[in-house]
Amino acid sequence: MTKTRFSFLVAALCAALLVTGCSGSETSAGDASEAHASSSAGLPSGRIDAGAKRTLVKSVATGQTCIDCHGKDGNAPLDPAYPKLGGQYHSYIAHSLQMYRNGGREHALMSGQAKDLTDQEIADLAAYFASRPSQLSDLHGLD
Ligand code: HEC
Repeated sequence: MTKTRFSFLVAALCAALLVTGCSGSETSAGDASEAHASSSAGLPSGRIDAGAKRTLVKSVATGQTCIDCHGKDGNAPLDPAYPKLGGQYHSYIAHSLQMYRNGGREHALMSGQAKDLTDQEIADLAAYFASRPSQLSDLHGLD
């Protein structure tokens, strides 16, 4: 086999792998049972309605609900230093909650809130807050 032909074969193989990889995630995005699986490490699909209900459950840690601290739609925090959650990326919310739960991210208030969340609850909460209107802003909004 000539060197050129070999290079072509390698390129074709890489292209084939790329296409397979992409089509895999595209089909899962359209399939409700696997939605978001690629973005937040194997979590089940998030359900907005179930997430809405879960935001009203008082935590064992502080006796407060998500909404008590983050406000309606996650957009009216109790304290201006608390982050807004409305319209935040599903994967970011889910990943943050996973990190608070496993200790990768620690915070005196949030670690206790996430400690007992199941994967399904994390997915549902992330789906709910991601579906709310966004008031997130970049640094230009802080002038
Ligand atoms: C007692 C008040 C309180 C409660 C209750 C609470 N949070 Fe939080 N939350 C905070 C604070 C304060 C932070 C910022 C923590 C930090 O800096 O890491 C935060 C951060 C977060 C973040 C990370 C946001 C970001 O931009 O990085 C997420 C996601 C989150 N909370 C979701 C929830 C969910 C879901 C619930 C309900 C299960 C909840 N929180 C309940 C106070 C609270």
